[in-house]
Amino acid sequence: MSGEPIVSPFTTLGIVGTGAMGRGIAQLAAQAGLQVMLFDVKEGAVKEANAFINGLWQRSTEKQRISTDQAQQYSKRLIEAYELADLAPCDIVVEAIVEKLEAKQGLFRDLEAIVSPQTVLATNTSSLSVTAIAATCQQPERVIGFHFFNPVPLMKIAEVIPGLRTGEDVTKRVNALGKAMGHFTAQTTDTPGFLVNHAGRAFGTEALRILGESVTDPATIDRIMVDQGGFRMGPFTLLDLTGLDVSHAVMESIYHQYYEETRFRPSPLTRQRLAAGLLGRKTGEGFYRYVDGKQQLPDEPTIESVPPCPVWISQDDPQSAAALTELVTAAGWPLEAGAQPTAKALCLLTPFGEDTTTCALRQGLEAQQCVAVDMLAGLNNRRSLMATPITQIAYLQAASSLLSHDGTPVSVLQDSNGFVLQRVIACIVNVGADIAQQGVAAPTTIDRAVELGLGYPFGPLRMGDHYGAARIMTILTNLCDATGDPRYRPSPWLRRRAALNMSLTAA
Ligand SMILES: NC(=O)c1ccc[n+]([C@@H]2O[C@H](COP(=O)([O-])OP(=O)(O)OC[C@H]3O[C@@H](n4cnc5c(N)ncnc54)[C@H](O)[C@@H]3O)[C@@H](O)[C@H]2O)c1
Repeated sequence: MSGEPIVSPFTTLGIVGTGAMGRGIAQLAAQAGLQVMLFDVKEGAVKEANAFINGLWQRSTEKQRISTDQAQQYSKRLIEAYELADLAPCDIVVEAIVEKLEAKQGLFRDLEAIVSPQTVLATNTSSLSVTAIAATCQQPERVIGFHFFNPVPLMKIAEVIPGLRTGEDVTKRVNALGKAMGHFTAQTTDTPGFLVNHAGRAFGTEALRILGESVTDPATIDRIMVDQGGFRMGPFTLLDLTGLDVSHAVMESIYHQYYEETRFRPSPLTRQRLAAGLLGRKTGEGFYRYVDGKQQLPDEPTIESVPPCPVWISQDDPQSAAALTELVTAAGWPLEAGAQPTAKALCLLTPFGEDTTTCALRQGLEAQQCVAVDMLAGLNNRRSLMATPITQIAYLQAASSLLSHDGTPVSVLQDSNGFVLQRVIACIVNVGADIAQQGVAAPTTIDRAVELGLGYPFGPLRMGDHYGAARIMTILTNLCDATGDPRYRPSPWLRRRAALNMSLTAA
């Protein structure tokens, strides 16, 4: 961003709870020019946090990111508080204590007796209701959610969450503070998971459903989401990194807070793994094993090269058919151009949200000859295939050999509705569309917040535009029909915009 640096509307910020989050918020506030008062109930915690933050600035001077003079100025702005009453001069206090409603309510009630009536009380809660935290305060209008992500200095986003009774001016000033601290501020409603944690529900839960249906294994799902979907890491690598003690609890919490909304339904798989202590990286084993901190990835199955056979391509989706025709021609395999295949042809199908079986029978084809290719993301980087339960192995081998002729990896899945990529993408877009429908945040805010907070290649609405809203509708509708699971019912926001051929980002 260009232009003048944003000036903070606050001058003195109190931090209560100087753990992982409190430290990060304190660091950014001091860098933005605020006086920062640090308080924690744990003996020695404030000193430790002060030393930690100074250590970071020291390293930044060594790397010449900031001058020694600058580091000294920042350092002078950190003030250690010995009791809560020392926070009296603060015009804003941000709490980052334990995630317990009664503790946060009690703290804010105590603070109200200490600070001035104008002081803003902000909570960094990630799962509690801001409105509920404010409810026991004398002045609930001064209480607001100010939600940062870990690690605070690197995750350039803060959610600003007014509760139902928060004053407009408080919201405006906290937005300005977030910007002055160098972050994108996403203003959201006080709803479960706010924006980012709500939008993040589909990636893991849909991957877990795919695993639960034995479509394939975690490593294949991860490889597909990275190579075909362009995600930085796959859902199981992410679950292992976060740890199931955290992620399973978040999955359950948001699901229950939305009164058992099926789109967020957690998986029995994680509950069971949690019980077994297979939490992820931190316990040395999760969906993967870790040896000396290094993830142990299973080898990809090798694909046998087989001699060419005639190939017939379904014209169900002309664009996909054209791309596959080009591939078959480049590989030098013979193409059948007739309206129907001969009895010896490998039949390539390109379903969206249908399984291979349904897609083959709908087109009046012999299921034994049919193999489906996921064309949602085209043919770059990786190709996903699946076959009907009666597809002859020779045809599946032929398809695998053909699709990997140029060295591109191929993943072979069990027959399923929507392969892996289509299912996960459609669910991400659908949840994002429903966030827009609920008015949790503005469409552009939803996309930017998800890109910054979750690191997805696109925000969910742009992702829908990228793959095509009508196509996402087709995938979801087919998933809905095949499973009868309301989890896949398309959001009205998506349905309407797909019907009108509009961008999902249009309000
Ligand atoms: N860690 C994350 O990834 C993350 C991300 C976003 C939000 N949050 C939220 O931020 C808050 C803090 O999380 P964290 O990971 O920094 O926790 P943490 O355990 O690292 O730090 C919490 C600190 O608060 C202190 N504390 C506890 N009760 C206190 C009280 N009543 N008064 C003063 N100090 C008290 C503890 O001594 C500890 O130093 C929680 O509400 C959490 O949900 C955490």
